[in-house]
Amino acid sequence: MEIKLHPPITNASGPHSVTYEELERIAQSAAGAIVTKSMTHCPRQGNPEPRLRAHLDGELGSLNSMGLPNLGYLEYAKFIPKLKEFGKPVIASIASAPCAHKLPPIEQYYEIATAIERAGADAIELNLSCPNLEDIPIAMDPQSVRAVLTAVTNAVKIPIGVKLAPYNNVPKLFDQIARTLLDFDIAYVATINSEPLTLDIDLKTRTKVIRPNDGFGGLGGPAVLPIALAEVHRFYKFFQKQKARIAVWGVGGIIRAEDAIKHFLAGASVVQIGTLFLWDGPQAFEKLWVGIQRWLQENGFSSVEEIVGQVREI
Ligand code: SIN
Repeated sequence: MEIKLHPPITNASGPHSVTYEELERIAQSAAGAIVTKSMTHCPRQGNPEPRLRAHLDGELGSLNSMGLPNLGYLEYAKFIPKLKEFGKPVIASIASAPCAHKLPPIEQYYEIATAIERAGADAIELNLSCPNLEDIPIAMDPQSVRAVLTAVTNAVKIPIGVKLAPYNNVPKLFDQIARTLLDFDIAYVATINSEPLTLDIDLKTRTKVIRPNDGFGGLGGPAVLPIALAEVHRFYKFFQKQKARIAVWGVGGIIRAEDAIKHFLAGASVVQIGTLFLWDGPQAFEKLWVGIQRWLQENGFSSVEEIVGQVREI
């Protein structure tokens, strides 16, 4: 099931997408859809502060170990009807995490997905790849990916996207996960979540820049652009070869229009912005879209569709 967005730009689930006010600001911006912070079964405070360094030295990007702070799915179910009044798709990002209810992860995904569909969400983005929880992300285990997708795709009718981790260090796993996805009716994969297990050091204080998980967190922003492009391209080529109608949404390293163009050429049909949105707020969508349109015009194209996957070999 395809999701068409205009413009083909959304926020990446995470920055500025937790509260109703933040989501309303996305709704009022030029973004093509509203993507919520990943909601869990129970509300979560997230990891201890400091847990986000928005600007790494040299503007390499951002580093976080937020730990999925969010209001819990019941609150987001209340927001959805109000957000839909803005006339753009509302995409509910869903994750599992340890919870007082002690529900196993598969049941958490199932319960949240069914409730969120009832609340009127236009699509669900299954976040299987948060790098900042104690457990290894579901995205790293094909059997668990299969179990979540079986539970959710059998239960809901709205389009489903899957947010994946980078597999650049584990090529065999890429193949297993990509093949697993073929067995399900999925609208898109969003790739990549932040690059896990990364570290930065503040030279003024000689401390790690974030506290949780021994200072290790997920890296986003310009430093991960080549990794994201590679993942987008691998999935795009794989799905083309298999004649699978699964779109690829590119996430990672987009801070200029040219970065988004690279994502489209690699095979993304939609781009999501995380660090750029963290840095610049809702005006980032308009600015990016204007830049993308200018690039298209200057290079003789009239739409993003014309360049999706059109990178040339040398
Ligand atoms: C977090 O809340 O820890 C970040 C979410 C994610 O990267 O999936």
